Amino acid sequence: MTYPYQIKTLQQYHEAFKQSEENPEMFWDNVAENFVWHKKWDKVLDWNFTEPKVVWFKGGKLNITENCIDRHLATRGDEPALIWEPNNPNEETRVVTYNRLHKRVCQVAQMLTNLGVKKGDRVCIYMGMVPELTYAVLGCARIGAIHSVIFGGFSAQSIADRLEDAKAEYIITCDGAYRGNKEIPLKSVIDDALLGNKVVKKVIVYTRTSTPISMIKDRDFWWEDEMEHAEKQVEKNGVVSFPAVSMDAEDPLFILYTSGSTGKPKGVVHTVAGYMVWSTYTFVNVFQYKTGQIHFCTADIGWITGHSYIVYGPLSAGGTSLMFEGIPTWPDAGRFWEIVDKHKVDILYTAPTAIRSLMGFGLDYVKGKDLSSLKVLGSVGEPINEEAWQWYYKNIGKERCPIVDTWWQTETGGIMISNLAGVTPHKPAHATLPLPGIHPILVDENGNEITGNSVSGNLCIKHPWPGIIRTTYGDHERCRTNYFATYPNLYFTGDGCMRDEDGNYRITGRVDDVLNVSGHRIGTAEVENAINMHSGVVESAVVGYTHDIKGQGIYAYVIYEGSHHEQNLTRPDILQTVSRIIGPIAKPDKIQFVTGLPKTRSGKIMRRILRKIAEGEMGNIGDTSTLLDPNVVEEIIKGVI
Ligand code: PRX
Repeated sequence: MTYPYQIKTLQQYHEAFKQSEENPEMFWDNVAENFVWHKKWDKVLDWNFTEPKVVWFKGGKLNITENCIDRHLATRGDEPALIWEPNNPNEETRVVTYNRLHKRVCQVAQMLTNLGVKKGDRVCIYMGMVPELTYAVLGCARIGAIHSVIFGGFSAQSIADRLEDAKAEYIITCDGAYRGNKEIPLKSVIDDALLGNKVVKKVIVYTRTSTPISMIKDRDFWWEDEMEHAEKQVEKNGVVSFPAVSMDAEDPLFILYTSGSTGKPKGVVHTVAGYMVWSTYTFVNVFQYKTGQIHFCTADIGWITGHSYIVYGPLSAGGTSLMFEGIPTWPDAGRFWEIVDKHKVDILYTAPTAIRSLMGFGLDYVKGKDLSSLKVLGSVGEPINEEAWQWYYKNIGKERCPIVDTWWQTETGGIMISNLAGVTPHKPAHATLPLPGIHPILVDENGNEITGNSVSGNLCIKHPWPGIIRTTYGDHERCRTNYFATYPNLYFTGDGCMRDEDGNYRITGRVDDVLNVSGHRIGTAEVENAINMHSGVVESAVVGYTHDIKGQGIYAYVIYEGSHHEQNLTRPDILQTVSRIIGPIAKPDKIQFVTGLPKTRSGKIMRRILRKIAEGEMGNIGDTSTLLDPNVVEEIIKGVI
């Protein structure tokens, strides 16, 4: 496949950027021509950031699965779309060709239709990293059902909240999932999430671990049986077909929940056409993808990175996407390198937290692995520190492979600021330059633009790009206040950022109450709410602190007044509660019991002080005179763990 919009030289990058600035509509009109449409759009862009309203490719009709699958069948039908590497290296790899993917996705679309799923219905997907997860996602998209994938590390309570928010009537899950030497009982978590739920009508269960599970009559259905039945319907005389539903450009494609600074995760909504164009355009340009290359994105499809760079971007580009079920450290810390060697991976896209963790195991695990197939390395999810960058560059890329440090967010749909591999220069620990169509600006606290270079401020984006968030599901006002109200006429990212002397951007981390733990976004308010659920906890305050491997760790200050019996119940009980309410990923790394929290006279917790204490910067606490009770600070410092 050729990509006429692929930028191949530095000069072309500057030209594309200039065109996207001078005439964004013409620029995106040209890019969108490279996709399959049922009906061409009438207008490229209609927008204002006050409501906000963003309409890309107005009047256009299409189905994203025809772009991800059908259009490749004639030329790449027998080529691999997916390569699946199981958790256990002794289990066999599965290679899914485009023809096979087409058949499976048609079957899922038929199965969902048989079970009553219609365009616009919400389908919650809670599965491990098996190819069937990709089939499920694309099967929804084929019939226009809105998928909402939930990462396998979230608890029953988190799922219940998301199901309720999305008013989802259908679930696709697995009996269980393998992760390293653990088995995660997914179906049993779903059963707990469904206690008291009256909205979910049907649950489809794919067998992965063969763990005993409960199957409720008329509610729970086996994937295998339903798919077998669907196969007979979609395949006639060896020809497979299931018509792709014609979608409006702005019909929702999926909801993906992400944490913000309030206690409740938001359902970020992306729509069909803009998201497709943006995920494909960024995939092809940032990674400089060439057809036939093997792209290994180590994320889980439960996060936006997996949506955009395991499923939609690579497949729409007719690429080969490697899906990995396991974890980087099992059976040993050489697992990634073994996969690269075994499958001759061309592009490896992973998170700084994984790199830092593998660094800690030393070079023995890299030795003897042939990494010469690698051409491009990528980093995503959090700032990459210089040490990790250098280790990755030297030991994995052997100083041959450019590293793309890709800054973006669930809300942006795809990569926003990044070097383009081998085309624009990389710079350690810098995301570098914006993609064409992206106009970052830095503002101060009052919203005044900070111009010039060697400056820092809050990162905002000026003009809509095709992959921008359209709404937060069921609550548009929330979308407005979260992203478009802080600074008028700007999309506010929530990130702090520096612009260096050459105009390169370096993202420094969140400026709101959101933590980034191992590349996962977690709201401090969410963790506090969970801790406060524990009986005996009076109040808590959660902040982040620098963590060698996770990037940020979670530090919780807890006021605890348990009953006599409960005096013996301590930190592990609180961890258990957080696990139950949110999931193991939100468990605090440190819990300090305190008798009071530093509050202003108006009752606001001074997190700045708590952050300093958590970072061990006791000598640099700053002014405490506005506190209701300055003695509290002394006490907290004395009790630091
Ligand atoms: O703080 C930024 C950080 O991750 C946040 C977005 O998290 P999420 O929506 O979960 O998406 C993660 C995968 C795209 C951002 O607000 N972040 C992401 N990439 C980078 C980053 N921080 C620094 N450098 C990056 N490359």
